[in-house]
Amino acid sequence: MNILILGSGGREHSLAWAVLQNPKCDRLMVAPGNAGIAGIAECAALDIMDGSAVVGFAEEESIDLVIVGPEAPLAAGVADRLREAGVLTFGPSAAAAQLEASKRFTKEICAASGAPTASYGHFTDAAAAHAHVDATGVPTVIKADGLAAGKGVIIAETLEQAHAAIDDMFGGAFGGAGAEVVIEEFMTGEEASLFVLCDGKDILSIGTAQDHKRVGEGDTGPNTGGMGAYSPAPVLSPEIQARAMDEIIRPTMAEMAKRGMPFQGVLYAGLMIEDGAPRLVEYNVRFGDPECQVLMMRLGAQAMDLMHAAADGRLAECKAEWADDHALTVVLAANGYPGDYVKGSVIRGLETCPEDSFNMVFHAGTARTNGEIVANGGRVLNVTARGASLQEARDRAYAMVDQIDWPEGFCRRDIGWRAL
Ligand code: AMP
Ligand code: GLY
Repeated sequence: MNILILGSGGREHSLAWAVLQNPKCDRLMVAPGNAGIAGIAECAALDIMDGSAVVGFAEEESIDLVIVGPEAPLAAGVADRLREAGVLTFGPSAAAAQLEASKRFTKEICAASGAPTASYGHFTDAAAAHAHVDATGVPTVIKADGLAAGKGVIIAETLEQAHAAIDDMFGGAFGGAGAEVVIEEFMTGEEASLFVLCDGKDILSIGTAQDHKRVGEGDTGPNTGGMGAYSPAPVLSPEIQARAMDEIIRPTMAEMAKRGMPFQGVLYAGLMIEDGAPRLVEYNVRFGDPECQVLMMRLGAQAMDLMHAAADGRLAECKAEWADDHALTVVLAANGYPGDYVKGSVIRGLETCPEDSFNMVFHAGTARTNGEIVANGGRVLNVTARGASLQEARDRAYAMVDQIDWPEGFCRRDIGWRAL
């Protein structure tokens, strides 16, 4: 099969790495890719937000399966355009991608399907939102309705912060994403993520993971796209996973099908677990980044068969099997991230890191300049390892981190602390 992966981050590097292990893959192309991906696959310069350009490319290159990495092209209908052109595609329609692209939509689906989640109000004008916050108090969570690259959520501890967040959002701080605002009850508990594949009818769990969203050790400081992850997440016990499937995932998928927008792709459910009960924090309609890296490390070659089956409506025949082991990834980010940072610093020592089914350095934001690997983003490398125990995976990952010579970067030293 000829496979095309859309995206350019560590998530896509890990998807490419897993696909290449599958003997059914004859040719792998990634658009646009990054310096790490270019080391294992053919990269193509392509505007992945442009549906007709992607369709044209897929037809020209005789692509048999497109795997869409990030949410933006999904929300823009790129998977719809591909399917209309008869190209098999892993990733939901724009209508189904509203589960990530609109907080209000997801809240309405939860209400209609009975899925437990935080109580909320939805506002299109600032005065009503201010009045709601005055009435309900703090802590509270203020969210821009639309896609805001992970930055549209403000947890307000004081009324002052809450009012300021509302003014910012309606004032255009998040562009069109903030034209509508959702205000939620603040939930307490432990957060973890459940990943399932769906083909529009059937659902298959492919594992759990826990992210580390804050930039600082001990989960302190500002939110980031994720500073590290591990899989499995022990807080999602088999019992809690079964409840999440029965109470949240299956009702959501049934409601989506009922509305004529069946979901096909990977659904990433961010869950809050308190007193043994899961509640939905949010859905994403794509793999998490860096959660994908640990899932791919554990799933290996079968990941491609499972995504193919989801795209093809054959999930009922599939079973996900993974070794009873653990994977952990440490994000190396540019100094200053998630605030301002500089690009272009040289990263050395990567060639000393092992690359096998237990150890991989996935590239997130890198480029190759004059033969050297340079930082080209905020989150730059995902140092990932597998082990028989979480401790072993973690030791392997940090051993690689210590071999990488990049004074302009940093990482958290405590990835996995909740489980260890
Ligand atoms: P989201 O973009 O919806 O995932 O929100 C980003 C992060 O904000 C989540 O991963 C949670 O850590 C936190 N968060 C979002 N909504 C809530 C809530 N209702 N209660 C507590 N924390 C929340
Ligand atoms: N790591 C969080 C996300 O991918 O949304």
